[in-house]
Amino acid sequence: MVALAVCWHIKGFTFQQRADEQKMTSKKIETALISAGRDKRFTQGSVNTVIQRASSLVFETVQAKKYATAQRANGELFYGRRGTLTHFSFSQAMVELEGGAGCALYPCGAAAVTNAILSFVSAGDHILVTGSAYEPTQDFCQHILAKLNVSTTWFDPMIGADIASLVQDNTRVVFLESPGSITMEVQDIPAIVAAVRAVNPHIVIMLDNTWAAGILLKALDLGVDISIQAGTKYIIGHSDAMIGTAVSNARCWDQLREQSYLMGQMVDADTAYMASRGLRTLGIRLKQHEKNGLEVATWLAAHPAVARVNHPALPGSKGHEFFIRDFTGASGLFSFVLNKRLSQAQLEHFLDHFQHFSMAYSWGGFESLILANQPEELAAIRPAGGIDFSGTLVRLHIGLENVEDLIADLESGLARIQQVE
Ligand SMILES: Cc1ncc(COP(=O)(O)O)c(C=O)c1O
Repeated sequence: MVALAVCWHIKGFTFQQRADEQKMTSKKIETALISAGRDKRFTQGSVNTVIQRASSLVFETVQAKKYATAQRANGELFYGRRGTLTHFSFSQAMVELEGGAGCALYPCGAAAVTNAILSFVSAGDHILVTGSAYEPTQDFCQHILAKLNVSTTWFDPMIGADIASLVQDNTRVVFLESPGSITMEVQDIPAIVAAVRAVNPHIVIMLDNTWAAGILLKALDLGVDISIQAGTKYIIGHSDAMIGTAVSNARCWDQLREQSYLMGQMVDADTAYMASRGLRTLGIRLKQHEKNGLEVATWLAAHPAVARVNHPALPGSKGHEFFIRDFTGASGLFSFVLNKRLSQAQLEHFLDHFQHFSMAYSWGGFESLILANQPEELAAIRPAGGIDFSGTLVRLHIGLENVEDLIADLESGLARIQQVE
């Protein structure tokens, strides 16, 4: 019942309130998602942005070439790697939605994460990274940054203002991810930002904002410098293309843009178009992911086989109070912990026979997905600790199927566990 009350609370706390908070000076988010990036220059008489595929862009005169060269970072057509009308339209859309001064595009979310960090570090520097970061983000720090003599300190995602004690003279970047990958801890972003800024205002604070699709958490409004997304997930929304985005505030934009450009970061025009197209239905899809996800999470919380549900919108989930304060809604990804560690045979019997949940990496598409981790596997990828449970953890992405079918599928799955030793 408590959880159901939360459903209603969250339901009444979604996109509308964000607009109210902005004192109605801007469009409501549903409207903004429809109109974002659809300037006449980019649509050229059609409803959608044109797909302009190009490496070479032709200059009619020497003067035109000179102008385009001078303005190449300001949306003039110059060379394909700087973007075409299709890219400019999508980048502009992201800035309209997330705020900031610009949006750099990358071929996938991992490239957005790694290139954003690389844009702000030099040999001898230090960065602070949440221990709940997506595993490849951690691997990048351990294998690539270490090779470049950039050191990493991992911190507990619930650290809050205590992060100040970890800041060193050579700290250049603080990297957050909220909710954290797999274990779903929501971080106290305003406290972290204030504490870091009080020690050194020049440190660049980045957030992997993929879970909130950049719109359920307005990261730049909370003082984050760069909001990063694997647009592969909710923006694309159909599990059929990959893209990364990094929306930056004014103080970091020139450096992010130019350094990413030098590292050759770009995405093809067709994928940029797919991303713009995804934005048009993002609001309605997210609302359904949220509704279905909350219903499944609430059902799981009452199931005797379940020890804990890690859903930011449910009380008891780590950082729930920060979720209520800072987010305008939930997406469809969460995890739960079983009350025992499954044997290998139980794990396989549980996972191999779902009707509606597929086993696959990634998330954010229209379909439901399931993955499981044993506690020791999670402990191995939590360098700052924090694995305070002993049961098998299951991560779900709740898609757009009928929620009764999903719950029935999970009920059968949980019953299967009893059938084998
Ligand atoms: C939180 C998070 N960030 C970044 C990424 C990387 O995105 P991509 O797969 O597009 O490289 C993922 C992918 O699963 C993710 O879950």
